[in-house]
Amino acid sequence: MNLTANIAGLNFNHILLNAAGVMCQTSEELDRVLASEYTGSVVTKSSTPSLRPGNVSPRYYELSNGLGTINSMGLPNEGFDYYMDYVTKQQTDKPIFFSVAGLSKQDNLDMLHQLEQSDFDGLIELNLSCPNVPGKPQTAYDFETTHEILTEVFSFFTKPLGVKLPPYFDIVHFDQIAKILNQFPLAFVNAINSIGNGLVIDEATDTVVIKPKGGFGGVGGPLVKATALANVRALRQRLNPNIKMIGTGGVTTGRDVYEHILCGADLVEVGSQLAIEGVGVFERLENELITILTEKGYSSLDEVRGQLKIIE
Ligand code: FUM
Repeated sequence: MNLTANIAGLNFNHILLNAAGVMCQTSEELDRVLASEYTGSVVTKSSTPSLRPGNVSPRYYELSNGLGTINSMGLPNEGFDYYMDYVTKQQTDKPIFFSVAGLSKQDNLDMLHQLEQSDFDGLIELNLSCPNVPGKPQTAYDFETTHEILTEVFSFFTKPLGVKLPPYFDIVHFDQIAKILNQFPLAFVNAINSIGNGLVIDEATDTVVIKPKGGFGGVGGPLVKATALANVRALRQRLNPNIKMIGTGGVTTGRDVYEHILCGADLVEVGSQLAIEGVGVFERLENELITILTEKGYSSLDEVRGQLKIIE
């Protein structure tokens, strides 16, 4: 079974990896994802220029009915230099994604300048969609600012770069963001980040379940699958074919991975379910995916990618 993908000339021998934020803050966690023979890559926790402890706890919660998770981590990370040190010392044949999420445009430009000048030869993810920093809106909901940032970035940046997007909920917004993204030589687009600013209430106590932002946080897991698939599909239909798609959101089974691929995903990231199940999730998902592909008579993902059928 051929489960490979290619982004910007870099080969991935498996299509699964972690979603930024899950099992990727420390070198030990990153090592664990990389060491799995069922991952094609690893993405670092989105970094800020300096170490950040993130928001107060409790800041992550798993819904007891298996519907998903809510978090307001607030970008806890070890700081840009830590991840630069990690990626440049790594001896792996898996391409690595270095994710950055500055708290300002200048933060992002500074980190990208350093990446441009470094020996790092993987892919760079510019996270424009973190919903959990108090007082900071999700950049990619502001189309003018997104255009302005990408214009500045591509005035100097030459390495393979993609963006991590928040979910969009309106066809006009799919059109508008795709029109902007198509103006730039992006290597990939990653959809979606968590659905921002959801609210979960504990039935026993009538209290919110996480402390930051009065309980508002990013929702992930099965609750967001339909939105994630819609975003992957809508963007795949609108983006230039040379911009690859990473599908993220609502993946708990091999069928979910398969559906992301049907919608056009090249790689598929696992967030909530990786947090819940641990690194063994990658083996289970890949085996479940292979079973589906085999039953349907496919021998390669290329036969499936983007082949979603509609009712005529
Ligand atoms: O709160 C967080 O650290 C989440 C980041 C993200 O969703 O990008």
